[in-house]
Amino acid sequence: MNFKRTLVTAALPYANGPLHIGHIAGCYLPADIYVRYLRSKGEDVIFICGSDEHGVPITIRAQKEGTTPKAIVDKYHEILKNAFKGLNISFDIYSRTTSPVHYQTAQDFFRTLYNKNVFIEKETEQFYDPEANQFLADRYIIGTCPKCGFDKAYGDQCEKCGTSLSPEELINPKSALTNATPIKKKTKNWYLPLDKLQSKIANFIEQHKHWKPNVYGQCKSWLESSGGLQARAMTRDLNWGVPVPPEIPDSKGKVMYVWFDAPIGYISATKELLPDKWQLYWKSPETKLVHFIGKDNIVFHCIIFPAMLMEHGEYVLPYDVPANEFLNLEGDKISTSRNWAVWVDEYLVDFPQKADVLRYVLCATMPETKDNDFTWKEFQTRNNSELADILGNFLNRVIVLINKFYDGKIPNAGTFSKQDMLLINAISEAPQKIAEKIEVYKFRDALFELMQLARLGNKYLADNEPWKKIKSDPELVNTVMNLSAQIAANLAILSEPFMPDTSQKIFKALQLQPLKWANAGSIHLLNAGHIIQKESLILFEKIEDKVIEKQLEKLHQKKSEQQQQNPLISKFPLKTEINIEDFDKCDIRVGTVITAEKVQGTDKLMKLEVDLGFEKRTIVSGVAHCLSPDDLINKQVIVLANLKPRKIRGIESKGMILYAENVEGKLVPVSPHNSMPNGSVVK
Ligand code: MF3
Ligand code: ZN
Repeated sequence: MNFKRTLVTAALPYANGPLHIGHIAGCYLPADIYVRYLRSKGEDVIFICGSDEHGVPITIRAQKEGTTPKAIVDKYHEILKNAFKGLNISFDIYSRTTSPVHYQTAQDFFRTLYNKNVFIEKETEQFYDPEANQFLADRYIIGTCPKCGFDKAYGDQCEKCGTSLSPEELINPKSALTNATPIKKKTKNWYLPLDKLQSKIANFIEQHKHWKPNVYGQCKSWLESSGGLQARAMTRDLNWGVPVPPEIPDSKGKVMYVWFDAPIGYISATKELLPDKWQLYWKSPETKLVHFIGKDNIVFHCIIFPAMLMEHGEYVLPYDVPANEFLNLEGDKISTSRNWAVWVDEYLVDFPQKADVLRYVLCATMPETKDNDFTWKEFQTRNNSELADILGNFLNRVIVLINKFYDGKIPNAGTFSKQDMLLINAISEAPQKIAEKIEVYKFRDALFELMQLARLGNKYLADNEPWKKIKSDPELVNTVMNLSAQIAANLAILSEPFMPDTSQKIFKALQLQPLKWANAGSIHLLNAGHIIQKESLILFEKIEDKVIEKQLEKLHQKKSEQQQQNPLISKFPLKTEINIEDFDKCDIRVGTVITAEKVQGTDKLMKLEVDLGFEKRTIVSGVAHCLSPDDLINKQVIVLANLKPRKIRGIESKGMILYAENVEGKLVPVSPHNSMPNGSVVK
């Protein structure tokens, strides 16, 4: 296929929280490297992104913070935009899905599908809050999880045990808006009949066997899942979203499903960027459409959005969808709710002027084929022993030595030795080696090739020792320093997609106007006599242990702050650490409750007789306000058996029964999972 232009999109982030390194490594950095490379080659490319401002998580966030969805998206749109800017992610436009252009574009799109009879209309029964007079999205229904009994499970998922649920499965469902018991009410929605489109979609996927194996594989498994693709509702009964075009009958109160409107945001943003030329990008078969995303977005970009585009009929289909896997942090999944993340806006404050260091480390650890791990230790090592020791060191030596030997003037190269010829060859091959990797989205390998050139430069200097030979063999040193300077200029060009600030600094130090990819590979980028900057060039400072320790501390601190917000931890703060010897002092046994009765004249006390196998004990528990004798009789319980006997209300209590307590003070006896002989040891 011969493409004339490239349209690159990066997944529109939800405007309900800041960006973390996982987002960057997964999607925005690879996209940016790709685009910068194409720009450097002089290709026709545009880079589109914006905030995804609809969807239920945004309305829920607004409700939690006691504000409006609009206020939430306004706030986070700015935060996201600034974080991208701080990391030099070079979108041609960063738009938003609440823009008027987007509303119009999405409505036009919907209208076209509606008029072409693409949708099927289905009436279903949905949960409805009779007090708030509105339908309830899955997330707005809270109830008890049928799997684990957690009493705050959502209608789509239990966050305790991870099971995905439908609202019907919840025990005792309640509206999160008013706490009313929801009723079922009939409603009509418009569905995209993916079932009917299955073979068309399968055909489309088959034409894209070149997709990354993780992407292609996921598509195949969706297509082959039992029963095949299912029709999906493209509208919702909500009041936050792009309204279904009002002239469509029964559209009142309906908005588009967020995954319907969001990808259309790519089109709207292009319109906003190029009001007269946008169709050139979206409606020409000569456009190569590339969607950069994270793996959780694969089905939407490879199946649902292409199906929408196909049925619409006027638009190009994605040519490639280079999805990355996930980045973990210090061995653990990045999680917003647990505050286990490195946030880009905070990084930029803690490490000013170090956007490139993060770009470098994230590129080197990019989760291209499998999940990968970011650690602060590795961040430090890569900065210190790769960026500072290899790239930074080489460039500084070049600048310093040329100033020292030649007063800043590039010397003339003399005749080339065999080693010089090998070096020249390596320089000439470098751009192609890097380009080949970028073009197939192997950014880690591409970065490695870039660093190889810097390594080669270092080795060339170390082998030739110009600092020793400047007196004895000035001819040789002239050549060595000329070629080293040419490597520096090549590094300035080739590093630009990965580390744009660094590239600029090198050009400036060499006093060169920025050059393009086509210039790279040459050893004639700097003419003899050209004057470079006088000052030395410190591109990367070493990062000290204490800086890294501080980041680690901050990470753990935030996590524990987050935990403090857990009501159980604030009600029952974690006790101080003990040794195993401390625990070993406890003699804990399994027993069976034989009798239980409330202690007369008390609210809470219950007198129990417990069979411990080797003896029977009388034990008093303060549980009568929660439990009745029947909750305990004949049940196995766990007893702290060597507790010093105590007299409670005149009754000698020998030992203590263990109960679990929740925030509301509800108590439940703890018992062995399966029945065990009385007297069994708990350890
Ligand atoms: N907001 C979605 C997410 O963060 C991505 C939307 S991509 C788009 O997972 F194509 F819908 F725009
Ligand atoms: Zn559960």
